[in-house]
Amino acid sequence: MRTQVCIIGAGPAGLLLGHMLRAERIECVVIERRTPEYVLGRIRAGVLEQVTVGLMERLGLDARLKAEGLPHAGFNLADGERLIRIDMADLTGGKQVVVYGQTELTRDLMAAGEERGLDVVYAAQGTALHEVEGDAPYVTFTKDGAQHRIDCRFIIGCDGFHGPSRRAIPPGAGTEYQRDYPFGWLGIMADVPPCNHELIYANHERGFALASMRSETRSRYYIDVPLTERVEDWPDECLWDELAIRLGPDAAAHITRGPALEKSIAPLRSYVFAPMRHGSLLLCGDAAHIVPPTGAKGLNLAASDVHYAAEALAGYFKRHDAGAIGAYSDKALARVWKSERFSWSLTRLMHRFPEDGPFERAMQVAELDYIATSRAAQTSIAENYVGLPV
Ligand code: APR
Ligand code: PHB
Repeated sequence: MRTQVCIIGAGPAGLLLGHMLRAERIECVVIERRTPEYVLGRIRAGVLEQVTVGLMERLGLDARLKAEGLPHAGFNLADGERLIRIDMADLTGGKQVVVYGQTELTRDLMAAGEERGLDVVYAAQGTALHEVEGDAPYVTFTKDGAQHRIDCRFIIGCDGFHGPSRRAIPPGAGTEYQRDYPFGWLGIMADVPPCNHELIYANHERGFALASMRSETRSRYYIDVPLTERVEDWPDECLWDELAIRLGPDAAAHITRGPALEKSIAPLRSYVFAPMRHGSLLLCGDAAHIVPPTGAKGLNLAASDVHYAAEALAGYFKRHDAGAIGAYSDKALARVWKSERFSWSLTRLMHRFPEDGPFERAMQVAELDYIATSRAAQTSIAENYVGLPV
């Protein structure tokens, strides 16, 4: 089969790009290894920057997001008894984020894909990329036992951190930047009202905690745990007890406990692969970079990559501007690095690292004191959290 753009991966990046290209009348096919049910079964974060909401608006896919998403004008940093509120709306001239689960966003993109005839091949096995350095790359895969080949002008790797696309780039043709963290996030999802109408990130002497939500009746909480620990080590009651301690007395007084709908541990990593283009292969989202979840940037970075990739592909196919493709990687990376820095610095500020001594702790306290008393410091955090312009 022949198309203009072959997208590998039907997560948020792949589906968002598929819709953007269709809106530009650029032919594309999306190849996904898993089934739709499996893709929707993944529990991921849920804080959308204006950039991501803007893309859904542009595609006319924001109805449910607007109806069910929770706009948040602020969030909080807790440091023991102290709660520092970052008033994003006041500090950024009215900008805010929207709390809306990544799973729901993916569900909206999938449903619209069916309605609008976006060509997505699910349950495709053994996906492989060929001739990515030339002008006529192709992708092969098997489905229902039959071999398939798609010839195209560009391949877009939206296949996440463990997908084949980045691995199709020869060693030495790119640089990897990586930082692993000595803890993971143990998350619990429960059908209970949130303990606060805004998010609380807490730095407690026992460790990190986050109070988040999916709706006014479904909450999502996290604590950090050593990577040696397993979910079985944390029965629900122990986790609720620990959350009550780490989030501070005021939040604890408003925590409603309930049985876990989902409980899992995710490791924390910062990772960037540069450049994000190799010949006729462009990388978007987790295929090129990973951020620790502290800044809620993972999904939003995938969306900004897609913004730049759609712009570059429209430039190439609609305005015959080959330079647009050449500019993709630098444009996307410029925003990726800023989000990597913000996510790394918020992780450093709000977690206790095992190797930290009294000096490092004193630096955290001094930085939190500065944030609590400086509008400039709060503005910097606010403009990064709501999302830097594309
Ligand atoms: N062939 C086809 N599809 C594949 C293959 C393969 N060999 N390998 C992986 N995929 C698919 C996965 O099944 C998944 O659906 O690629 C998709 C990648 O989706 P995500 O991992 O969600 O990555 P991305 O779309 O870039 O979204 C980034 O997801 O992980 C979160 O925190 C991250 O929020 C960020 C967002
Ligand atoms: C979530 O709601 O799952 C969530 C929110 C904010 C983060 C990370 C995760 O920084």
